[in-house]
Amino acid sequence: MQTERSVQQRYAAAAQAPETALCCPVDYDRRYLEIVPAEVIEKDYGCGDPSRYVKPGETVLDLGSGTGKICFIAAQVVGPQGRVIGVDMTDEMLEVARRNAPVVAERLGFANVEFRKGRIQDLALDLERLERALKQLPIADAASFLAAEELAGELRVCAPLVATDAIDVVVSNCVLNLVEPRAKRTLFDEIFRVLQKGGRAVLRRRQRRLRLMRTFFPRAMLAVTFALVVPAAMHGAEPGRVFQSGSTRTALVELYTSEGCSSCPPAEAWLNRLGTLPGLWTEFVPVALHVNYWDHLGWRDPWASRQFTDRQRASARGWNSDTVYTPGVVLNGQEWRAWSGRNGVPRSSESVGVLTARSTDGVRWRIEFAPTGPHGQFEAWVALLSRGLESNVRAGENRGRRLHHDFVAVALVSAPMRKNGDTFRAETAIPADRSPGESLRALAVWVTSAGQLAPLQAIGGDLPRAPR
Ligand SMILES: C[S@@+](CC[C@H](N)C(=O)[O-])C[C@H]1O[C@@H](n2cnc3c(N)ncnc32)[C@H](O)[C@@H]1O
Repeated sequence: MQTERSVQQRYAAAAQAPETALCCPVDYDRRYLEIVPAEVIEKDYGCGDPSRYVKPGETVLDLGSGTGKICFIAAQVVGPQGRVIGVDMTDEMLEVARRNAPVVAERLGFANVEFRKGRIQDLALDLERLERALKQLPIADAASFLAAEELAGELRVCAPLVATDAIDVVVSNCVLNLVEPRAKRTLFDEIFRVLQKGGRAVLRRRQRRLRLMRTFFPRAMLAVTFALVVPAAMHGAEPGRVFQSGSTRTALVELYTSEGCSSCPPAEAWLNRLGTLPGLWTEFVPVALHVNYWDHLGWRDPWASRQFTDRQRASARGWNSDTVYTPGVVLNGQEWRAWSGRNGVPRSSESVGVLTARSTDGVRWRIEFAPTGPHGQFEAWVALLSRGLESNVRAGENRGRRLHHDFVAVALVSAPMRKNGDTFRAETAIPADRSPGESLRALAVWVTSAGQLAPLQAIGGDLPRAPR
């Protein structure tokens, strides 16, 4: 935080008056500078030109956009069919960039650039939304601090600053080195989260350029494996699949768990047993979401992610609870404490509509929902699950135990559904790579009302084995 505050102060001053000590000579393509206002060019603190790697029609995200020069260049390259989003944490920089955006739009004849306030290591958190909400919730004591933390978690899930799988190219011009070392891992995690399949990152550092292609290692492995990545298209294509629900509601069972919690293995054993019951996928869809809030107890859960912790917090707010715990079971969006000792999941007779997930290559999925009741706005959620995982835990509360996990979420994405006659449609892609150690992969798909977490309908199924 200390580093971040000094970076912010330095760039706040540099947004007000040009600061030569922060400038490096850069050879931009002069054609693109003609329409960029002089003030933006004078306050140029980049060290290279990542916009060269951008193509027409793409959606570009510039990390640490400053006064917006790279965004304004990229806006011309991507053209009116493309889009550019700049993210910066410094108000003074955002002020200059936002004030000049309409000038550039007028000179260009189209407006395709916007600037958002956020920290690049936390691209889900919209800082301006958070600031607006905090005006109603001033932090005066521990309780209001914890409430604010929860609110931030909820915003990350329900109104992310940059959505998952939304970006074709991430660019950054000499900003990664300004992020404090302990946040670097999260930063790379975030870059991979927002990039869509086949997306690229062009990251300029002071010395050299790094280019990354997004591939699909489990989230927990992304930061350490990025040097080994290959384009997703090189992985063997899988045969196509169709999963379809009936019109009565299939239950979604979410287990929030952690390898760092000694009371979790019995709950996981219960969830694993659901995999042996005949109602699997047709009556209930199980998903294990590993949370990261016990990671500090001595054992870092390799499948845990903050995304799942935030999701659990946001769900708990739905039943007015301030607390989250493990093992925590959520049945159709509601806390469910009666799972223990129960063989199976309560059945529903409610008619909600038919949900279909279809893919020809096992990677790109079309999700369709034909609701029984009145139409609204819907959102599709897709989780990639690893099955049959085993883990030797060497520290923490489960030290010395060999744990067996099933239905472990290794990726979770959501996409808004568009109306198409009487049905609603969304398209999304899931990771093509296998998780190390998994015996099988599966897909869980559910649909919610837009902006909600409680599922209306769910479906899922095992995926064909991919070639190793
Ligand atoms: C080196 S300048 C780059 C500006 C711009 N990309 C350019 O090429 O002129 C760094 C910018 O990154 C922003 N920045 C630094 N660390 C950041 C962080 N962790 N999150 C968001 N913005 C950050 C600063 O506010 C500043 O505007």
